[in-house]
Amino acid sequence: MRRAAITAALLLAAAFAWAQPKGNYLVVEADAPGIPVQPTMYGVFLEDINFAADGGLYAEKLINRSFEFDNPLQGWKTFGKVEVLTEGAPFERNPHYVRLRYPGHPVRLCGLENSGWFGIGLEEGAQYRLSFWARTSGKTATCRVSVALCNPSTWNESQILVKDAVEVKGGKWAKYELVLTAPATLQKAAFRILLADENPSAAVDLEHISLFPADTFRGDENGLRKDLAQALADLHPGILRFPGGCIVEGTDLENRYQWKNTVGPVENRPINLNRWSYDQGGRLYPDYYQSGGLGFYEYFRLAEEIGAQPVPIVSCGMACQFENDPESNPDCPLDELQTYIDDALDLIEFANGSVKTKWGKVRAQMGHPAPFNLQYLGIGNEQWGPAFKERFEPFLKAVRAKYPEIKIVGTSGPYLGGEWFQDLWQEMRRLDVDLVDEHYYSSERFFEGNANRYDSYPRTGPKVFAGEYACHGSDGKKLNHFNASLLEASFMTGLERNADVVYMSSYAPTFAHVEGWQWRPDLIWFDNLRVMRSCSYYVQQLYAHNRGSRVLPLTLDGKPVTGQNSLNASCVADDESGHLIVKIANLSPYSQEVSIELPAWVSGACRTELHSDNPMAENTLDAPETVVPVTEALDWTPAKTGAPVVFTGRLTGRSFTVYRFHRE
Ligand code: AHR
Repeated sequence: MRRAAITAALLLAAAFAWAQPKGNYLVVEADAPGIPVQPTMYGVFLEDINFAADGGLYAEKLINRSFEFDNPLQGWKTFGKVEVLTEGAPFERNPHYVRLRYPGHPVRLCGLENSGWFGIGLEEGAQYRLSFWARTSGKTATCRVSVALCNPSTWNESQILVKDAVEVKGGKWAKYELVLTAPATLQKAAFRILLADENPSAAVDLEHISLFPADTFRGDENGLRKDLAQALADLHPGILRFPGGCIVEGTDLENRYQWKNTVGPVENRPINLNRWSYDQGGRLYPDYYQSGGLGFYEYFRLAEEIGAQPVPIVSCGMACQFENDPESNPDCPLDELQTYIDDALDLIEFANGSVKTKWGKVRAQMGHPAPFNLQYLGIGNEQWGPAFKERFEPFLKAVRAKYPEIKIVGTSGPYLGGEWFQDLWQEMRRLDVDLVDEHYYSSERFFEGNANRYDSYPRTGPKVFAGEYACHGSDGKKLNHFNASLLEASFMTGLERNADVVYMSSYAPTFAHVEGWQWRPDLIWFDNLRVMRSCSYYVQQLYAHNRGSRVLPLTLDGKPVTGQNSLNASCVADDESGHLIVKIANLSPYSQEVSIELPAWVSGACRTELHSDNPMAENTLDAPETVVPVTEALDWTPAKTGAPVVFTGRLTGRSFTVYRFHRE
């Protein structure tokens, strides 16, 4: 009995000690010159995975618009006499088109139906721009075609929501356009196009049938889904890393991302099977192809529009190493590497060259005569081993020789440590690359214990690009739940604190369609109509919005705040606003008092907190604001004594808090 009482008392005392840690007295060294925070911090990584581009950000509503999938009619339902042809095609790199002919009886129908990727999302009152290329191919000079947006699952007498008709004139290919206004909001509509001519000798050829919302991001015709692009822009990302990821490498080299296939008129951009259409994990999406509609021109423009530095990644002549046996010679022979190097050099010319250069002219013809001011180029994604080293060195030297001003991003492979990682870091140092891309998709334990990861990195040589990272939940559940994002926030204090080593960062994949994902966690989830910003999104946003200009020393008992009393913290000065910004992750489940010693000029403060009582809480499309940051001005006016002022506040248990201290 006595022993039980003593044990209980000891346990209580231990709990109390955790609940009431002594001495959370943080000191900001505001007079220190500070380490500049790079504007390339807190960026995003955009890969067409999870239907992020086609079926997502790229606003095209129709799948297989050019009839170029391996099965040319995949994604289309056909009825009546529909043929796939190539003869006399208008776009040589997308040679298939369809012919619709009289179905044999006046009441029968001939046409096509397309339901987009997961249905076509329509919003009531919104306008949709339909376009297609057509020519008559029967015995008549004109041919009537009807088009409709439909609700295939309605109980109404008619499935048609809105319809219209077009008169196709003559045997020469021409583009036809019209606008349809949706009378209702619908998650899963379908589009139909029919031969509607009463003359049995009429026939029509159709190619590149495309449907876009009229209201795209910044109004571009070949545009982006507005809500998704806006969510991206609202992050204020420092960089945009694109287009991958593994799709840069391809399952085989033929399937690699080739930027030249993604510029010029959209109708003539060849498609590519998306490497993520199949996945070892058992999620199969056989209709996942890359249309190239969101191509390199659009990526550069997006980066420019959202104020992010573009960081394109190019193939280094190696197919995905996870998917290929090295014995099968999956990589390009060394004597053919020049093709890949030339692609990279041409890309720099496309981005930065004068309009008089070959590729600068292509950029200008697409509508952007001014250069894109490309400063960074990544060579290879997650590569490793001797085959990579053999290719990387000549690649790097060729780019450096022609464009010494371009900063080169190398790689440390797919893992956060280990033999490949060490070997590649050594090689990257030997070659003196500018930045080394590190990837870590890791456990809660890793993120909890490694806010000091970069404290011991060498201060000279290549800088770190934390190019893909995310915290996986407990039990291997890769959810965007609150605790994972809190641990990411905590870890990121270490990215911030080591601003002299970590020059660039971008989170795990940005977008994921709730019905078509292959990879988790991700920043932003969506369906055909709605968008949800995850808890991790808000962490990235809090960092990007509070990036500041210089990192200042912030100490607890003379040491950086890396885990004492379950706190991880960092501090920046924002030279534009004059504010001091202190970020603190409290990983303890208990609330803690914190005191922060600040310079005498501090006059007030506001606080933003990200918190949930439930570590497993998640934002969802139905409840997108389950966990969101809350900002409040603090009722605190420091006494003016000329001595440093001390702010005292309470950190909620399991919370990420950003304090902004104002200058009078
Ligand atoms: O982010 C998804 C994949 O993870 C990327 O394509 C690849 O770089 C990494 O392995």
